[in-house]
Amino acid sequence: MTAKKTILSGSTVTGDLTLGNYIGAITNWKKLQEDYDCLYFLADLHALTVFQDPKILKDRTYSFFAQYLALGLDPEKNTIFAQSHVHEHTELSWILTCLTPLGYLNRMTQFKDKSEKHEKNVNAGLYTYPILMAADILLYQADMVPVGEDQRQHLELCRDIVGFFQNRYGEGTFKMPEAYIGKMGARIMSLQDPSKKMSKSDENDKNYVSIIDDAKKIEKKIKSAATDSDTVVNYDPENKPGLSNLMVIYSVLGNKTMAEIEKAYEGKMYGHLKVDLAELTVETLKPVHEKYNDLMKNRDHLDQLLRKGAEKASVRAALTLTEVYNKVGLIPRR
Ligand code: TRP
Repeated sequence: MTAKKTILSGSTVTGDLTLGNYIGAITNWKKLQEDYDCLYFLADLHALTVFQDPKILKDRTYSFFAQYLALGLDPEKNTIFAQSHVHEHTELSWILTCLTPLGYLNRMTQFKDKSEKHEKNVNAGLYTYPILMAADILLYQADMVPVGEDQRQHLELCRDIVGFFQNRYGEGTFKMPEAYIGKMGARIMSLQDPSKKMSKSDENDKNYVSIIDDAKKIEKKIKSAATDSDTVVNYDPENKPGLSNLMVIYSVLGNKTMAEIEKAYEGKMYGHLKVDLAELTVETLKPVHEKYNDLMKNRDHLDQLLRKGAEKASVRAALTLTEVYNKVGLIPRR
């Protein structure tokens, strides 16, 4: 038997999970959890790089966790945990920080963007953020990391850091991670600006449907999605990106081909499609909402699952950190 490859994925606990995440999740998780050893974590430490109201951060961490579970991520088949619960992340991060030249961090475009956006809070954590991310990945000897465009540069830096470590201390401590480019499901675009991806950290909440939006909100957002002024319902992402995006969502949620949708709306207006899509979305998310609400009623249960996840993750993280301590000349704690 060959061991399964390890996939690791983290999500910063900011914003709201969206319909785009839902679609990515349903198309991927079931299959991934069979074929790979999967770790998912809530990057609550990364969230601290921008100002967070303490209560909101805590509530959102529970909420994200419950949303992942409600979406069908199975805590038995995967390792799901909060980053801050496994102290090895910050410990390894420090060691890697001492190996990373400033010049490499200065190149990070996300730091430049974020420090312009959060002008009043350009803290050192925002700057060293990608080193913590490298620690997240390297602790678990991840083979693959699914990353969006915005995180590619950070993954590259992580690979550079493996090189810095090898040069100084020799090979064999960390696995060199690769970007996971699997079929990530359909690409869902912003509802108001279909040239951008639907993003969980979008400032304008009209741009996305959140997984926990109520029916009224979902309807309102879908009905007010930006579309062109034509009336014929046909799939044409080039000339009708807004309509085509709605059709993509429709086809995934309703399990229909574009041709079937076009046929069903022959002679009808965009408005008809929007009304039906809103209803379909509300129906689709209903069981997710129910499961989510149930989970959120019982924090003790969530705490218990978080503890179990952290225990599973810690065992693996500790192995790597002990090896690192030995290599760099720190005495491993016994
Ligand atoms: N920085 C990632 C994001 O904002 C989240 C993240 C933190 C992550 N650590 C990671 C993703 C490690 C993959 C691997 O999306």
